[in-house]
Amino acid sequence: MQRRNLLKWMSAALSTACASVIAVPGVKYLLATVQREGGQAVPPQRIARLNDLPVGEPVEAAITGRRRDAWSIYPEEAVGRVWLIRRSEDDASEAKVDAYSSVCPHLRCAVSLEPSKEAFVCPCHRGRFGLEGERLKTDGQRNPANRGLDSLPVSIVDVDGDAWVEVTWQEFEPGISAKKSMS
Ligand code: FES
Repeated sequence: MQRRNLLKWMSAALSTACASVIAVPGVKYLLATVQREGGQAVPPQRIARLNDLPVGEPVEAAITGRRRDAWSIYPEEAVGRVWLIRRSEDDASEAKVDAYSSVCPHLRCAVSLEPSKEAFVCPCHRGRFGLEGERLKTDGQRNPANRGLDSLPVSIVDVDGDAWVEVTWQEFEPGISAKKSMS
């Protein structure tokens, strides 16, 4: 190898090594940030009074939290939405409330309630779900979702004699049949 070629080769190798030293931690940092954003953990949130929930009828509620990206922390805003369904008239000690993420398990569009209030539907690819979160058949079409709506942990807490519903927000991997947390 001629001397000039050898010098060129050494210079290129040195540049690549320097770029790697800078780029690898940067990429790692950005990936970590994206992961935090995608599956950020939010502590249990008090989102509805038990007595404001009609029995058997889904009610939508927002989960709020602080969102952050690589450079900024944003003020409190809605980070997710849930569908709450009170299952019985029982008082707080016996009451059962179910919560489902409104994030479609297919590709993460927001599911809404059908006008009949008997099922949830996703506007993106017509995924359809029952009021127990189960996948439903769609009219003559395949339901594109691989699993039902993702249920979320719920607790009923007493606040100065008033029963409130608390939900722990989580996000799950879309497009797979298993319910796998993203956090
Ligand atoms: S994103 Fe909901 S059906 Fe595709």
